[in-house]
Amino acid sequence: MTDTLIVLNATELLTLKGPRMARVRQEMSDLGIILDGALAVEGGVITAVGTTEAIKREFDATGVDRVDASRKVVMPGLVDPHTHLVFAGSREFEIEMKVRGKTYMEIMQDGGGIHRTMRDTRAASAADLYAQSVKRLRSMIAHGTTTVEIKSGYGLDRATELRMLEVAKKLGEDLPVHVVPTFMGAHAVPPEFEGRPDEYIQFIIDEVLFEVGRMKLAEFCDVFCEKGVFTVEQSRKVLLAAKVHGMRLKIHAEEFHTTGGAELAAELGCTSADHLAKTSDDGIVEMAKKDIVGVTLPGTPYTSMRGEYADARRLIDLGVPVALGTDLNPNCWNESMQFTMSLACYHQAMTPAEAITAATMNAAAALGLEKRIGSLERGKRADILVMDVPTFAHIPYRFGTNLCETVLKDGRRVYQRSELTCA
Ligand code: NIG
Ligand code: FE
Repeated sequence: MTDTLIVLNATELLTLKGPRMARVRQEMSDLGIILDGALAVEGGVITAVGTTEAIKREFDATGVDRVDASRKVVMPGLVDPHTHLVFAGSREFEIEMKVRGKTYMEIMQDGGGIHRTMRDTRAASAADLYAQSVKRLRSMIAHGTTTVEIKSGYGLDRATELRMLEVAKKLGEDLPVHVVPTFMGAHAVPPEFEGRPDEYIQFIIDEVLFEVGRMKLAEFCDVFCEKGVFTVEQSRKVLLAAKVHGMRLKIHAEEFHTTGGAELAAELGCTSADHLAKTSDDGIVEMAKKDIVGVTLPGTPYTSMRGEYADARRLIDLGVPVALGTDLNPNCWNESMQFTMSLACYHQAMTPAEAITAATMNAAAALGLEKRIGSLERGKRADILVMDVPTFAHIPYRFGTNLCETVLKDGRRVYQRSELTCA
């Protein structure tokens, strides 16, 4: 029993127990709470969940490692299903442009935005890209993220796209976090293909996607389907090609305009459609019919300033399983799923319980990982957070601070909050 660890005395243990699938409508409000809860872990897997009394009776013995969660909330590790974490440089100067009235798309069309980060990323070596990215990932783990999706899409050429995915892979190997890599070569049209988006899409399919598939560097393929970037037809083409290579599909859809990206996600059976600020009711209904997870990213309109928030209330009421992601990228340098949950409540009309479901179980489903993570149930990976709050509603309520006290990844303590060095 030396390998056993028990977490005890949680005021609230949020199990998120239920079917191992994305949660919809009312199901999103049920956190499966056990009062005075506890759980046992062995070999990185949860072996029992119950009251403290029951778990102590069965598992407490000498040699067992204990985590005391008295007066705290215990919950599943946060899953961030949408990031552009690997990039070089920064774009802090865009704040002033946005304050002065420039939109996200105007900055991009003037050669800034994604194009600026593309230039910085192309110029960075793998070691430099790793060094810049690892800092962000370490901070995300300290804020409770135990699984993270990472997209390519700042190379827009063969060598840099592959380099980004290789860096993502190494980050997952080196750090205690599960990394899910996504190929997003169709993120923007690079300058050498300016005015020739169809040729760029063909290049991505023939010369980059093919190689990514051969080297098995990505589990998902994503595309920026947006007016002025890639059309529905171009998006369909690249996603269908990715399917042939065995990748599952995602789409950046309806961020600034209603394009039909949500309907395309339903047509192709995408695992998720992300952003969704401008989705039509027809698009929402199509997504709901096919159980496509709707990943909302409230950090993005927060930083784009003139962007609109997704109508999560409408998505939930029409039956879409809604998830949350940070969308961490140089336009939206958001490392915290805790802050994202807060934005979801204050700007997307989600309740605290819905936001927590969206950041755990439904975010796991957005990565096809709902059978392995996202809830605290027997047989699931022991990705567990101890939050220094008396009840779960404090999690979105208190923002701008890290409420995580302990992070366990596969049953191993990977973060423990430290105290001030002076009184
Ligand atoms: O999801 N909108 C497209 N792509 C990213 C932003 C990338 C960037 O601005 O660097 C997003 O918001
Ligand atoms: Fe994104």
